[in-house]
Amino acid sequence: MSLIFAVIALCLLAISHSTYAAGPPVVNLRTAANFTILAASGVSTVPASAITGNIGLSPAASTFLTGFSPVLDSTGTFSKSTQVTGKLFAASYTSPTPSILTTTVLDMQTAYTDASGRTLPNFLNLGTGEIGGRILTPGLYKWTSGVTVSSSTTFSGNSSDTWILQIAGTLTMASAKTVILTGGATPANIIWAVAGGVTIGTTSHFEGVILGKTGITLQTGVSMNGRALAQTLVALQKATVVAPS
Ligand SMILES: *[C@@H]1O[C@H](CO)[C@@H](O)[C@H](O)[C@H]1NC(C)=O
Ligand SMILES: *[C@@H]1O[C@H](CO)[C@@H](O)[C@H](O)[C@H]1NC(C)=O
Repeated sequence: MSLIFAVIALCLLAISHSTYAAGPPVVNLRTAANFTILAASGVSTVPASAITGNIGLSPAASTFLTGFSPVLDSTGTFSKSTQVTGKLFAASYTSPTPSILTTTVLDMQTAYTDASGRTLPNFLNLGTGEIGGRILTPGLYKWTSGVTVSSSTTFSGNSSDTWILQIAGTLTMASAKTVILTGGATPANIIWAVAGGVTIGTTSHFEGVILGKTGITLQTGVSMNGRALAQTLVALQKATVVAPS
């Protein structure tokens, strides 16, 4: 009898899993998705970093884009840098850039508020804030503390599965560690909503979209597939960042 119930339960589980992608509804980045790096007070690089995509800075002026040796376009609306495949935009550039950036920064803040405000987490204070060595399945994760990644950690799920990680403190990843994606999991669907500062240690590899309430630092030689969207500043040290398509 109990075997029959177990079989029925397994069938129901199989049906529900084949009908819906696992994890919370997608966080809409709106126009913030046009940027690989977005910040309010500054973006700095220790050359040479390699950024695929655009950099946006607002309300700070272009003087707070440091280390990029930006070359202003003749239109005055953006600049270019040998460290960036796309364009650099700052609030001090010629119209319409300032108003576009104002909207983009608001969109970033809205996305942070959405991601950090989701309720009913599937996992609360997993590992008491240490997620190194774990395999994270799709879902809403909430920590009322900071989170550390002291050894490599894995996100396992397919290309439509989603993760939101709500972190009330800082996010700190040790040096020379890796965030691993398996099963087709994509960095665009991994949202790190972090209230405190984010620090990714030297030569580590990171995956996902960081929505930082404060600052984000990618130390020397870090590589990252995702976006660094910060409500204060982004500091790059010979870092590589590739935006998800
Ligand atoms: C991903 O897995 C879910 C079940 O967890 C399934 O419903 C969905 O069709 C899968 N998507 C892809 C692209 O494989
Ligand atoms: C930014 O992305 C939106 C779509 O979300 C698009 O409509 C808009 O044209 C983009 N803006 C710029 C400046 O590329």
